[in-house]
Formats: sequence, C-alpha cells, structure tokens
Amino acid sequence: MAELEIKGLVTEVEGAQILKGVDLTIRSGETHALMGPNGSGKSTLAYAIMGHPSYEITGGSVTLDGQDVLAMAPEQRAAQGLFLAMQYPTEIPGVSLTNFLRTALNQVRGEETPVRQFMSELREHMTDLGMDEKFMQRNVNEGFSGGEKKRFEILQLALLTPRTLIITHYSRILQYVTPDYVHVLVDGRVAKSGGPELADELESTGYEQFREAPV
Ligand SMILES: Nc1ncnc2c1ncn2[C@@H]1O[C@H](COP(=O)(O)OP(=O)(O)OP(=O)(O)O)[C@@H](O)[C@H]1O
Ligand SMILES: [Mg+2]
Repeated sequence: MAELEIKGLVTEVEGAQILKGVDLTIRSGETHALMGPNGSGKSTLAYAIMGHPSYEITGGSVTLDGQDVLAMAPEQRAAQGLFLAMQYPTEIPGVSLTNFLRTALNQVRGEETPVRQFMSELREHMTDLGMDEKFMQRNVNEGFSGGEKKRFEILQLALLTPRTLIITHYSRILQYVTPDYVHVLVDGRVAKSGGPELADELESTGYEQFREAPV
C-alpha cells in the first residue's frame, strides 16, 4: 500500500506564496476529495506534487512511502505511481495518441510493453470508455472537444494505473464517487477535513464560512 504524505507544504509561483503549509496524507485505495474556492491552490498543489518547474517549493515535504518525492524528476514521480489529470489538457501537435500513450506506459512500467500487447490493452480501455478507435491516430488533444479531452485523461488513468489520485472541486462529481475523506483548501491551507458529509455541508453553505474565519 502506498502512502503519500504532504507536510507543511509551502509553494511560491512567480514570487507569490500560494500554498502556505498544506498537510495531507493519502493512502492508495482511499478517495480524497480536495475542495475549495477558485484560486485557493488546488491545482497548485497538484502541480507542486508532480514537479511543475514554475512552482517553487519553499517549505515542507512530500513523501511517497517515505521516499522524497520533491527530489525526484517528474518522470520518476510518474514511475512511482503519481499522475496528474489536467484541468486544461494540452494539445500536442505531431504526437499521436497511440505514440504518446505507448511512450508514457513504457516509461512508467520501466520496460517495453510489446506492441501487440499494448494495442490490445489500449483497445480494451478505449472500448470501456466508449472512445472511437479513430482517436488512436489523432494527435494528442488536437481539435478534441472539451469532453473528449477529459475522456483522454481518463484513458491515461486507466492505462497507467496510478497508485494515488487527487480529485478537485465540483461537488456534483461526488454524486458519482463517494470520497472517504473531504478536505477544504482555503487560501493555501487545509481549513477543514471530514468525511463525505462535509461535501454535502459545503454544497449548502458554500465557502463563505471559511473566508470570514479569523486567521
Ligand atoms: N503561473 C502563475 N502565475 C501567477 N499566478 C499563478 C500562477 N499559477 C497559479 N497562480 C495563482 O495561484 C492561485 C491559486 O491557483 P490555483 O490554480 O492553484 O487555484 P485552484 O484552487 O486550482 O482554482 P480553480 O478552482 O479555479 O481551479 C491563483 O490566485 C492563481 O492566479
Ligand atoms: Mg484548479
């Protein structure tokens, strides 16, 4: 079982402190919903965990099974089971979906998956997700509709089988996925953690109660 432990994480973007000491522990198999108002730092946290170069870590630690994630290159983080589903998936002209996935899978598995085996795994997941096979030859996200881009993120998840997963904000999604834990991120800190009932509470109360709380 994997354990992702985030302790006192402080992150700066363009000189501004966005995360101000985030504490969060996630074990594989658990579903955590990270909620919070726009701009509270949810995407920043995801980028910081994955190693996006624009996000400077100025304090705290992130470990995966005790290993220092922050010392790893992004591809090592992926090989260790971390995956970031993009809020805004990027178009990659000239790179076919098939080549992209095969390269990613080989990197994450640390060995070449034979082409035939890869193609059969890919077909199976695409069928499950209701994705037409014509997408295989298309360039990554190029001209995809918004929904098709999101579906491709899910295809990557299905194929790469990451060990840990962080879900961001829409409470509507929680009608389909029941989280074990809900955390509310406000102004770069986890302001409250609880069970699934916290999501229902937020649905009716919103985030104002946290904004107005004295610091
Ligand atoms: N590259 C950047 N340059 C300047 N500011 C940035 C950058 N990236 C993030 N920020 C700022 O950091 C804050 C947190 O942004 P972040 O994207 O983490 O919010 P979020 O919680 O994911 O919000 P949303 O719910 O809207 O997706 C915002 O005020 C944002 O403008
Ligand atoms: Mg975001």
